[in-house]
Amino acid sequence: MEVTETFAGMSLPGYLHTQESLRFASSFQFRDTDVVIATYPKSGTTWMQEILTLIRSKGDLEPAKTIPNWARAPWLEHTYFKDMLQETGEPRLITTHLPCQVLAPALRKSKAKVIYMARNPKDIAVSFYHFHKMAKFLPDPGSFEDFLIRFLDGTVQYGSWFDHIKGWLSLQAELGLFYITYEDMQKELGRSVEQLAGWLGCPLQPEAIRAIQQHCSFSSMRENEMVNYTLIPCEIMDHRQGQFMRKGTVGDWRDHFTPRQNMLFHKIYQEEMQDSSLCFRWLMD
Ligand code: A3P
Repeated sequence: MEVTETFAGMSLPGYLHTQESLRFASSFQFRDTDVVIATYPKSGTTWMQEILTLIRSKGDLEPAKTIPNWARAPWLEHTYFKDMLQETGEPRLITTHLPCQVLAPALRKSKAKVIYMARNPKDIAVSFYHFHKMAKFLPDPGSFEDFLIRFLDGTVQYGSWFDHIKGWLSLQAELGLFYITYEDMQKELGRSVEQLAGWLGCPLQPEAIRAIQQHCSFSSMRENEMVNYTLIPCEIMDHRQGQFMRKGTVGDWRDHFTPRQNMLFHKIYQEEMQDSSLCFRWLMD
């Protein structure tokens, strides 16, 4: 299954994306009411899709009980979800891993709201490594050591984490982008939901926030087949190799990184982020 597409200088899984689907994404006509979830893979995208679905329904859990997350917040650049983008409810929730330079021209033509969700890149590297083992549309990751080198080089699929976050955050003021981290959400999920709802102009009652918080806990989402990807057949995601909802923790990198890998990570992080004003306070957690 593994075929690679190249687009905007990065490799992407050809099973999910074609040149046509990528061109469709880059010239997409956003509506002013659209809400775009932009993430680098493994940053908690599915979590954000679930939360925003429930904010849209004002805490009503029903739509999330029967419709998988990818149909409620479809992927912009995926071959399969093009039609769903036209059918999803209002406001449309649209998900993307694409870098900002691909989408910025289209986004600038609308008042669509953009949420950028970030996560400690060390935990992303670990999560992405495990995901490569189960996702048949991604290449065999080899050893964690080899994978980490490619992650730091930016030669993994979906390109460099550093370029992704720097690019999107460079548009923060221009696009009025809402920046939130996986770690913030882990710490205070209820508060994050409240902030997101307020920013989206859909303030919620405390009981709705509590319902969303409960529904979106890791233990609840792990058992929920509308979000845990167990509906996807094993030829595409091999569930015998691991779970999509794997650990859901902050700091799993500590169980994977050697001290030498950690030092290398920090060295490259400093070099890559030296011109960025981003202070990612979770790096050591
Ligand atoms: P781990 O592999 O570290 O467990 P994405 O949706 O962007 O692919 O991200 C997947 C990561 O988010 C996985 O991380 C997954 O377990 C985690 N995740 C998904 N839902 C979560 C939740 N409700 N709470 C905490 N982590 C969650």
